[in-house]
Amino acid sequence: MERAMFFLDQNEMPTKWYNVQPDLPEPLPPILHPATKEPTRLPPPLFTEAANDQEFSMERYIEIPEEVQAIYRTYRPTVLHRAFRLEKALDTPAKIFYKYEGTSQAGSHKPNTAIAQAYYCKKEGFKRMATETGAGQWGSALALACSFFGLECKVYMVRVSFNQKPYRRILMETWGAKVVPSPSTDTDIGKKMLAENGEHPGSLGIAISEAIEDAAKNDDSKYSIGSVVNHVLLHQTIIGEETRKQMEMADAYPDIIVGCIGGGSNFAGQFLPWIRDKLSGKKPDMRIICVEPMAAPTLTKGPYTWDFGDTAGMAPIIKMYTLGHGFIPPPVHAGGLRYHGMAPIICHLYKLGFVEARAVHQVPTFEAGVQFARTEGIITAPEPCHDLRVAIDEALKCKESGEAKTILIAHSGHGHFDLAAYDEYLSGRLQDYEYPEDKVKEALASLPEVPE
Ligand SMILES: Cc1ncc(COP(=O)(O)O)c(C=O)c1O
Repeated sequence: MERAMFFLDQNEMPTKWYNVQPDLPEPLPPILHPATKEPTRLPPPLFTEAANDQEFSMERYIEIPEEVQAIYRTYRPTVLHRAFRLEKALDTPAKIFYKYEGTSQAGSHKPNTAIAQAYYCKKEGFKRMATETGAGQWGSALALACSFFGLECKVYMVRVSFNQKPYRRILMETWGAKVVPSPSTDTDIGKKMLAENGEHPGSLGIAISEAIEDAAKNDDSKYSIGSVVNHVLLHQTIIGEETRKQMEMADAYPDIIVGCIGGGSNFAGQFLPWIRDKLSGKKPDMRIICVEPMAAPTLTKGPYTWDFGDTAGMAPIIKMYTLGHGFIPPPVHAGGLRYHGMAPIICHLYKLGFVEARAVHQVPTFEAGVQFARTEGIITAPEPCHDLRVAIDEALKCKESGEAKTILIAHSGHGHFDLAAYDEYLSGRLQDYEYPEDKVKEALASLPEVPE
């Protein structure tokens, strides 16, 4: 019998998150205060103390609190699959594995950090969390986590997704969250954006600004972010830590790891526990491929520079590859990948040459998603359809070269609420969007000036 699924028992679930910071060859650049432009912690009124400590921690392993582990155990460990049927359809000698995070209650990897953040918020005595969401996956995860810990939850949902995905809103409301389309009339920045354009499609950057403004104005609230910052990537490393054990069960080691990047959290959660083998020189040839949409090609087309994490310039300034904080990406279906910047840890590793990046158009990603659905059965969210495209391309290269490479896909979630996008693809209405060079140039003109 050839095993197609690799299970860990609940008592084998890792009990520590892995922090890459002590293993980086050069330290990360500092985070800068948006007004003073001096190095700063994350703004303390917005974030919990625990999240702030983890953001800058130099401890290699950080204990997962027992209360967080107990909730992780409602859906973890997740399964590592071997994609035999896809391999056969591609007629490739490559071995394709995928770690599937779509079995969490919210349907993606996002609860891994939402649960931790809600736990620390409750523990530090706060009652409410405010956040943004793009595709609705992150908002769903925080709504779920807040319901587990008895916290109120307010979600600013990017308007284009709010309109495209009413079922995600209903999911969040079922878990007890209040959801508004962003830009909204609930904040000053939202009102300003709506005054400029009553039909504003919104962006993650604007929704972040709204959630930050909300948390800053409410003393009983903390802001929660679903990606980009170090502590979020840290919480996601449970994925890669589990996968390492499962790949060992499969007697396999990845030659190539592929994942989509919006702010970078799911993919970093998978690859950081592996990259330490590359950083230490043990596995110098392992390839780590970050996949982004052509519509928001941050690593492949953006400069590495200082920029605000949000549109209004309220979030800290971070050094990252960026398309400019004012950039509004075209409304592609992979809503979670429509962000102007990228996790500083990923940018740093890309700059140092430890990870690669590739940008792909949305039509070929859905083509890969449909091929995956018709072989492995899973309906994939538009974001990880990007991984599938590149993984399939790499497997087809193996077919040409005859190499039996091991490819590991960081499959971040299901697409059960994205069927309208599949419908567009299947009916031939789905379009690609060219990289909007002019719009990026315009947005890059307003980068903050930071003395080097
Ligand atoms: C299923 C899924 N994958 C990936 C992403 C991209 O975010 P990140 O790069 O932080 O994993 C999202 C964001 O919403 C998502 O919902």
